Amino acid sequence: MNMNIRSLFLEHVAQTSDSPMLGVHIDIEYAKGAWLYDYNKRAYLDLISGISVSSIGHCHPKVQAAITNQTARFAHLMVFGEFAQQPQVHYMQQLMPYLPPSLNSIYYCNSGSEAIEGALKLAKRATGRTQIISFKNAYHGSTHGALSLCSDFNFTKHSLPLMPDIHYLTFNCTADLDHINEKTAAVVFEYIQAESGINTIELDFLNALTARCKHYGVLLIADEIQSGFGRCGSFFAHQRFNHTPDILVLAKAMGGGLPIGAFIAPKSLMHTLSFNPSLGHLTTFGGNAVCIAAAYAVLEVLQEEKLVERARTIEHCIKTHLSSSHIAHLRVEGAWAAVEFKTTETCFKIIKSALQNGLITDWFLFNSKALRLSPPLNIPLQDLKNALQQLNLIIDHG
Ligand SMILES: Cc1ncc(COP(=O)(O)O)c(C=O)c1O
Repeated sequence: MNMNIRSLFLEHVAQTSDSPMLGVHIDIEYAKGAWLYDYNKRAYLDLISGISVSSIGHCHPKVQAAITNQTARFAHLMVFGEFAQQPQVHYMQQLMPYLPPSLNSIYYCNSGSEAIEGALKLAKRATGRTQIISFKNAYHGSTHGALSLCSDFNFTKHSLPLMPDIHYLTFNCTADLDHINEKTAAVVFEYIQAESGINTIELDFLNALTARCKHYGVLLIADEIQSGFGRCGSFFAHQRFNHTPDILVLAKAMGGGLPIGAFIAPKSLMHTLSFNPSLGHLTTFGGNAVCIAAAYAVLEVLQEEKLVERARTIEHCIKTHLSSSHIAHLRVEGAWAAVEFKTTETCFKIIKSALQNGLITDWFLFNSKALRLSPPLNIPLQDLKNALQQLNLIIDHG
């Protein structure tokens, strides 16, 4: 059964990597909480949550119930403003206490990339400018527009030409901010750069970036696709910096495993999508009621299970229980860590051995020397501690 699924999978489902799990083959039959189970009922601890998606664990009963209830009412209606849909309204009402007051209008999408696309289009339309700035070693998605923000030529070279007029600055380098000027429509940034391996923005840099953008009327687009919904130890990373972006982009953990993303902006800004011409952004499925019902349940679970506080407990747990002289750098932000080694080879060896020992981790897209930890926020603490002890042994002894 298992071999049959794997060979058919390799034959008929498009593959974009020769060795996504470093040669380790694991085929999952079902998942529950922080655990994944293969067809032989072997358990694997999910220490990455499907890249920060399953933050409230797999198959949470509240999410399951929300999906069932909503599918009994309606799954899909047109989303171009024809119908005032209760799930869309309720979700935003529930989210608004976590947002700066100015961010009061939400555009629902299906993924992070699509939300980034929408945010870029909004910025270009609202400012009448074309230039976009992003930061080196950031990842904002794989559609053409979102991929254009990626500085790694090796990663983008086969998709050229991408969007013109994009400039890549060095993250946390204040001198580079001189490139932002009256031609710039927007700067896309992360408070905690995810795929370079958890690199946090410096406050002075954020202040200088904000001041420069304000001076030239440039919109700040904050990508909180990975940092959001408690992952970084606050509900959103912008709260930690007491900072208000012009456009906030969300996805990943938002839907509790269902595909949903969003960009959020002041209504006055968002309004520019509705004229000259109207329908400034379109999506068939964005705002799908079932996905939003799941997303609403995620907000309730985050609150009821106090998972933002829990992320900080996980941070403490990682900092106290993970220790080896072979670790070159350890960067931890909430339930989110980059364990960096001296070489990619060492990192891959450890990830592979961890997989063979039932621990699912991986590396970062633009930092293959660092092992990613991003467990479900409600992972049982004893399971996490055991896993960290196991990791220590793997790091020390292979
Ligand atoms: C920070 C960040 N932005 C954007 C994206 C793109 O999101 P999606 O894969 O949902 O299109 C990702 C995905 O990994 C991401 O990590």
